[in-house]
Amino acid sequence: MSVAPPPSATPCVATSPQGGGLERFLKILSVLGCINSAAAEAIEPPLGLPPVPAAVAGTPAMRKLGEKLFFDRGLSANGALSCAMCHIPAQGLASNQSARSIGMEGRSLRRNAPSLYNVVFKKFLFHDGRETDLAAQVWGPLLAADEMGNSGIGPLIARLRADADYGPLFEAAFPGEGATMMTLGRAVAAYEASFLRGGGRFDRAVYGGERAALTPEEWRGYELFIGKAGCAVCHLIGPETALFTDQSWHNTGVAFGFEATVGKRLVQLAPGIFQNVDIAAVGLDQPGAPNDVGRFEITNAPADRWAYATPMLRGVSESSPYMHDGSLTTLAKVVEFYDRGGGANPSLDTKIRPLNLTAEEKAAIVAFLEAL
Ligand code: HEC
Ligand code: HEC
Repeated sequence: MSVAPPPSATPCVATSPQGGGLERFLKILSVLGCINSAAAEAIEPPLGLPPVPAAVAGTPAMRKLGEKLFFDRGLSANGALSCAMCHIPAQGLASNQSARSIGMEGRSLRRNAPSLYNVVFKKFLFHDGRETDLAAQVWGPLLAADEMGNSGIGPLIARLRADADYGPLFEAAFPGEGATMMTLGRAVAAYEASFLRGGGRFDRAVYGGERAALTPEEWRGYELFIGKAGCAVCHLIGPETALFTDQSWHNTGVAFGFEATVGKRLVQLAPGIFQNVDIAAVGLDQPGAPNDVGRFEITNAPADRWAYATPMLRGVSESSPYMHDGSLTTLAKVVEFYDRGGGANPSLDTKIRPLNLTAEEKAAIVAFLEAL
C-alpha cells in the first residue's frame, strides 16, 4: 500500500457542515491519505480497505455537489432536515442522541441511523438489506413521509433547477444534464464514497506490520475476536483488507429487545430538543419483534425472521447506540449481549452461543472495538 496511513484512526470525511469548497475538501482528504493527488479522479483507499468502486466515487465535481446536497436542509419538505442531521459527521455519521431516528416533525422512525463509514463497500443497504444501489438509496429518505417528507421527485428536482447556487454545480458535475433524479442520486453517492475509515491503528498493526500500534490489551481483544469469541465469523477480517462484515444478515436476537416498554423515556423531538414522554403514548412501547421482523419483510422466508445486516465495525466507538433499534447503549453492553448468547428466540443464528468470557476478556474485546 503506497499511501501513508494517517496518524490515528482518523475518519476520511469532511466534517464541516458548511461544506467549504473543493480545494479544502480535497486537501483534507489528501492530508488524511484518502486521495492520491496523482489520480485526482479516483479515491485512493487508506491501508486496510479495498479499492473504492470508481463508478460510485465519480469525479471531484460530483463529490463537491454531493457534499452540498448532503448538508442541505432544503432537501426536506419543511426545510428542517438534512441527511447530515441523522448521519452526523462528528457522531460516526450516525446519531448518538436517539436509539431510533427522529424524522419529520419529531416522528420516531423504527430504526437506528446506521454509521455511513465505508458505506461504499456495502453490497446491501439498510438494516434489512433491501437496497443495493447507493445512488438509488438516496431517494428512500428523501421521499419517506417520516424522514425528509418530499411528496414526489418532481417538485424537489424543480426546486433544485430553480436554485442559482446549484446550477453551476450540477453543470460542472454532469455537463448538459442538470438536476435529475439520477444526477442527484449519483452526486450524493459519490460524496458518500469518500466516507472512508481505514489506515488507523488496527490497520497499521495488522496490515502494516507495526505491532506496537495496538496495545497488548487490544491485541488480546483481536485474538478473542477472531478466536474464542467467534466475532470474525460474521464480522470478517481478510488477509489484506477488512470490512468487518460478511455482507449478509443474521438473527442475533436483538429484535427481542431489552428496553423498558412502560413508563417515561427521554426522547429527542427535534435536533437538540429533548422531552420526557410517555412511552406508550408516542408508540415506543413496541419491543421490536411485532412491528419489525427484519430481512423477513423483504424475502418472506421464515429463516430471515429478525435477521439484520451485519454492520461494518470501523469507527464503531463513535456511533452509539447500537443494533438496528439502538437498544444497546454501549460497546460493553454489546459484548455482554454476545457473551450471554444473544437474545433467545426460535430462529437464533447457530453461530450465536454463550461465550463464557471472563471480565478481562470482555474488556479486551471492547478495547479492540474502540481501536477500530
Ligand atoms: C430522519 C433521519 C434520517 C435522515 C434525514 C436520513 N437518514 Fe439515512 N438512515 C436513517 C435510518 C434510520 C436508516 C436505517 C433505515 C432502515 O434500515 O430501514 C438509514 C439508512 C441509510 C443508509 C444505509 C446505510 C447502511 O449501512 O445500510 C444510507 C446510505 C443513508 N441512510 C443515507 C442517507 C442520505 C444520503 C440521506 C439524505 C438524502 C439520509 N440518509 C437521510 C436515518 C436518516
Ligand atoms: C452470527 C453473526 C455474528 C456474530 C458471530 C457476531 N456478530 Fe456482531 N453483529 C451481527 C449482526 C447481524 C449485527 C446487527 C444486529 C442488529 O442490527 O440488530 C451485529 C451488530 C454488532 C455490533 C453493533 C454495531 C452497530 O453499529 O450497531 C457490534 C459492536 C458487534 N456486532 C460486535 C460483535 C462482537 C464483538 C462479536 C463477538 C463477540 C460479534 N459482533 C459477533 C452479526 C454477528
